[in-house]
Amino acid sequence: MADWQADLAATERRWLDDIAAAADLTALRALEVAALGKSGEVTGLLRQVGGLPPEARKPFGAAAAAVKVAVEAALAARQTALEDAEVAAELADSDFDPARSPPQPRRRGRVHPLAQVQAEIEQVFASMGFAVLDYPEVESEFNNFEALNIPGWHPAREMQDTFWLGDGNLLRTHTSSGQVRSMHAGLRIPALQPPFRAVFPGKVFRYEATDASHEHTFHQVEGLLIDRHVSVGHLLDSMRTLLSAILGREVEVRLRPGYFPFVEPGFELDIACQLCGGKGCSACKQSGWLELLPCGLVHPQVLRAGGLDPAEWQGWAFGLGLSRLVMMRYGIADVRQILSGDLRFLAQF
Ligand code: FA5
Repeated sequence: MADWQADLAATERRWLDDIAAAADLTALRALEVAALGKSGEVTGLLRQVGGLPPEARKPFGAAAAAVKVAVEAALAARQTALEDAEVAAELADSDFDPARSPPQPRRRGRVHPLAQVQAEIEQVFASMGFAVLDYPEVESEFNNFEALNIPGWHPAREMQDTFWLGDGNLLRTHTSSGQVRSMHAGLRIPALQPPFRAVFPGKVFRYEATDASHEHTFHQVEGLLIDRHVSVGHLLDSMRTLLSAILGREVEVRLRPGYFPFVEPGFELDIACQLCGGKGCSACKQSGWLELLPCGLVHPQVLRAGGLDPAEWQGWAFGLGLSRLVMMRYGIADVRQILSGDLRFLAQF
């Protein structure tokens, strides 16, 4: 064995002995730096290779690299042994009781206020014999506008700024888009053969500026009742039943004439702002009232578009602003919080 080989073997032996004798992880870390750190001894051996005569480089380089590998392996093995010993010592300590470690606080999921109110509305209407339906958010221009007596030239299109999709479809601007779908579905679904009654809750989208009472994405619940004879009295009574069931108290409402091309007559049912008690605030734009529940008797044109003969069938419909009802029920001053996903907001419910 050449001298340099004996030297390397001795160096390796010394490091392996020191590592095996390291008393704890701190001592082991110091040894690692001393051997393999930037100015460590083993690192220095590898650095020498470049300065050797060409014929000596390969054998010396390979042997020095082997020392490095052996030292690394010894460090890893000693580290595992020391860590295992630490855990074993902790477990052997009679004071250590995992059952007594402090409990981790856990966040519990809750029902979103919107989902809660929607479920209650569905229950109220189901108890009155209404089917609960679901319709697509991507809708045809026909179902969202034309079928509702709003042709392309009609100024009422301006009332609902629309997100158009490249293929000529759109994101529904209101749940009324399900009205004619429901009438047509009667051809296939027995529960929707007239006379029928249905509610369809859902998300709607409008390309409009947002403020405390306006979101670009919000929720509505549509109601539609088709029968041979319907009355405004029955419509309004159903709306009152709905509001007192959801808000749990009698609330002040006001009825105004309202214009929507798909109902005649049409009404706006406003609710006294539950946030300011009618005094005026940002949620009700200082008016004390909030537009909540437009409704009316289904226009004969819409019945026709749905394949029903207006001489035989009549209907009433409403389009409840679900997001606003949620605001009123929980005292939420800004509609934009509802879909914010902010956990600090959601944790209140
Ligand atoms: C409509 O959407 C009609 N489809 C309602 C209707 C149905 C009338 C059936 C007659 C018969 P309007 O655009 O007013 O109407 O919206 C209905 C309700 O949705 C409003 O009263 C309001 O409570 C809510 N709403 C409207 N725009 C927003 C918005 N940007 N953010 C939050 N809520 C809104």
